[in-house]
Amino acid sequence: MGERIDRERSQARIEHDVETLAGPDYTLSQSAICRYAYTDAYRATLAYFTRELEAIGFAVWHDPVGTLVASNVAPGAPAFGVGSHCDSNRNGGKYDGTLGVCTALEVCRLAAEAGDGLPLRLISFLEEEGSGFGQMLLGSRIMLQRVSEQELRETIRDEHGVSFWEAAEAAGYEPARWRESIRALDGLTGWTEVHIEQGRVLQDTGTRLGIVEAIVGYIHGDLHFSGRADHAGATPMGFRLDAAIPAAETIVELERLAGELGGGVVGTTGEIAVSPQLINVIPGAVRVSLDLRSTSGLHVELRDRIVAFARERGAARGVGVEYAPRQELPVQPMDEGVVAALVESARESGETYRTMPSGAAHDTQCVASLRPGAMVFVPCLDGLSHTPLEQADCADAALAAEVVYCAIRARAA
Ligand code: HGY
Ligand code: MN
Ligand code: MN
Repeated sequence: MGERIDRERSQARIEHDVETLAGPDYTLSQSAICRYAYTDAYRATLAYFTRELEAIGFAVWHDPVGTLVASNVAPGAPAFGVGSHCDSNRNGGKYDGTLGVCTALEVCRLAAEAGDGLPLRLISFLEEEGSGFGQMLLGSRIMLQRVSEQELRETIRDEHGVSFWEAAEAAGYEPARWRESIRALDGLTGWTEVHIEQGRVLQDTGTRLGIVEAIVGYIHGDLHFSGRADHAGATPMGFRLDAAIPAAETIVELERLAGELGGGVVGTTGEIAVSPQLINVIPGAVRVSLDLRSTSGLHVELRDRIVAFARERGAARGVGVEYAPRQELPVQPMDEGVVAALVESARESGETYRTMPSGAAHDTQCVASLRPGAMVFVPCLDGLSHTPLEQADCADAALAAEVVYCAIRARAA
């Protein structure tokens, strides 16, 4: 069938949105995209989307903690959901998340121009990256009630020790009403998020679109190694309680164990914090973060085995080891009906597409646990993401907007 919208026009509008939001008013960093909950740069970004959505007749509001919601029908009325997140990794690129919200905005524009009365709801989730409070998918986990009030009041804090609760109140939100956030999903008949792949399968296979069939489950946690911060010169090797040694052994073992388990499981230690971090002091304390994922569920066995290994290596050296969980989400299959509608629409576009899993976590894995949801990936250069080097082609995003818009129309017909 081929082109069903004016793809060049949509590409130009998406490009303008992305490039505008890559400007200095929308990031805290001069060298990367850096924006997250309650910062001026993030507020400015939400204000941009609000202006663009109100200009096409959508009502815009925020949930009690700051997730943006917009719709062309009354809250709670039946509508199909589109969106993503527009916060960023602290060393982020201009496409991760933001391209998805811009593409969702374009779907809303297409519906408004067609005057076809297609009921839509756009959602831009707070804190998908966790750059503000170290908690990934925080806005969508709050919406799906996958956090506790105690965590929001006490455990979840920013780098200055301010709790999420206090920060939300200081930003003018009402965290005490956090349980009402789920109202944004009332009447939602389905959901699709467009996102850059953050891998290189689409690029390396010359495919323009990926239709996601399942999103990885993940575990986030920290291993704390406690030794003794002795003098690096005066302490003979046999007298040390060096926290860095079992930590280093554990980091190497994680890679070996993930390879041994196979099944697509991945394990990463992205944060390694040494204290007191001085050249002439033996590390007294080391924190090693764990990011463990799989679509097979094997990441749970990986957590159990690497924590046991760390404890055994610590005990062998008199170094204490504690595992502190941060959060976890299960593997989330996508809705077969929404996937089928997207596959059919992609087929009708006449462009290349493939079905695939998502190795990255996404807000969709929360939404799809309650509403029929799926995702559409577009290629990004060499799979680069969480870096200012991130590159994507807005022509692919325009194609994704067409495929999503037509799939929603077909489902509503
Ligand atoms: O890390 C992730 O999976 C996502 O990009 N925040
Ligand atoms: Mn993202
Ligand atoms: Mn990301």
